[in-house]
Amino acid sequence: MYDQSHICRADHMAVSKASRTLRRRKRKGKTSQIPYLEREYIALSQWMKRNKFVQKRPYLSAAIFNSTGRGLMTRHSISAGSTLVSIPHHLLITPHTVLTSVGQHFTKWDKQLSSQQAMSIFLLAERQKQESSFWFPYINVLPKKYTTPAFFSETELNLLPQTVLSKALTEISKVHTAFKLATDFITCCWPELAPVLTYSDFIWSWYSVNTRSVYYKHDLCDQFLADHNYIALAPFLDLLNHSYDANITASFNVKSNCYEIQTEDTYRKYDEVFISYGNHDNTHLLVEYGFVLPNNPNDVVEFSFDSLLDIALRMKLKHLKEKRSVLLTGQFDRKLCCCSDGLSWNLQVVLRVLCMDWTELKNWKLVMQGGIISDQNELLTRTMASTLIKTSLGMCKENLTKFQGLHCDTMTEHERLAYDFICIERTTLQSALISVQS
Ligand SMILES: C[S@@+](CC[C@H](N)C(=O)[O-])C[C@H]1O[C@@H](n2cnc3c(N)ncnc32)[C@H](O)[C@@H]1O
Repeated sequence: MYDQSHICRADHMAVSKASRTLRRRKRKGKTSQIPYLEREYIALSQWMKRNKFVQKRPYLSAAIFNSTGRGLMTRHSISAGSTLVSIPHHLLITPHTVLTSVGQHFTKWDKQLSSQQAMSIFLLAERQKQESSFWFPYINVLPKKYTTPAFFSETELNLLPQTVLSKALTEISKVHTAFKLATDFITCCWPELAPVLTYSDFIWSWYSVNTRSVYYKHDLCDQFLADHNYIALAPFLDLLNHSYDANITASFNVKSNCYEIQTEDTYRKYDEVFISYGNHDNTHLLVEYGFVLPNNPNDVVEFSFDSLLDIALRMKLKHLKEKRSVLLTGQFDRKLCCCSDGLSWNLQVVLRVLCMDWTELKNWKLVMQGGIISDQNELLTRTMASTLIKTSLGMCKENLTKFQGLHCDTMTEHERLAYDFICIERTTLQSALISVQS
């Protein structure tokens, strides 16, 4: 299967912007491939073959796609129900692999690491062994860097809208904590590894695990790790990119002793083949995986509870203290967001309650029935919803001014991501505004 494994530029992904879904986009384009052999893919292929990886039809091979970057392309048409890939158990890197191969270091420690920390440290240790590591052919095809915000410079981080920035900073601080714990562990129990444990090396291995591992439930009941984080790195399979509309099942097949992906989708020859990483919005995709999707049906724009109170204040709405307290007690201060079709349930409740008069407020729970409270309340609610969305559109405009002077062709990959994120957010807000005004 994999001796033809080469990277080809699959220009068939460059298609009309007007196509509504990724899948349709994928199918409209013409196919033109410029194959070029890459030593490391041949090495990965040969290593997998030597280790009993047998690729059956459909043959997939690595390719570069215009809209998604490196991914897997099918060399045959695929029908629903087909098994896309099947990776033998001994080629998976799991917390169990880590403990069976270097567990002596973990047993020495009186604290516990998470599975992700243990896998990240293992990857670092194997990377520094170079060719002498069993995993070298796999590690050699891993990206050299990632595009999650942890890799952004401070200036690049500041291009992100506030809501994403605060999630990115929370995530970055989690990685710092993991790095600190890894440093303590290595200093104490694996000092030979200390020279390779720089922060930049650690975030490479952390995000190799974070962006590429699959869910794999196994029977490891080990007291040396802090969780039962059922994760595994699956070479080759982890070249599959995400599409929100990919229908797949991923599971371990005990009969074949392989981790397998089955698709319920159909593909034509030379299509890119996708899996779904979950119903994630663009903030999650950016913070956890380092990419964003235009036309993502799971995308939302979030608003803070305080920003709603600010608008209520500006609209001179009354009894805000009481309304705030009612809403906080009902935990309506979260999931305040809109998508292109309209507003989330919590946001509708908050807007309606903030727009109530005193008599309506006494029976505020009527809002839960979802009907109109009164003509006056409905009018104010719509006005407030429009103001909220227009305010956010204003913030998008302001955020985009930070890119003045940067040219599309010379932007860094991180700048481009932040720019795309804001443009997609603006499109979502514009559609939401039309929907609340209609
Ligand atoms: C499991 S890997 C998939 C293979 C990866 N593209 C590679 O070259 O190794 C996950 C990463 O691929 C990229 N990715 C996945 N789906 C994508 C998509 N639809 N568009 C752009 N990038 C995507 C992101 O960088 C993500 O962190």
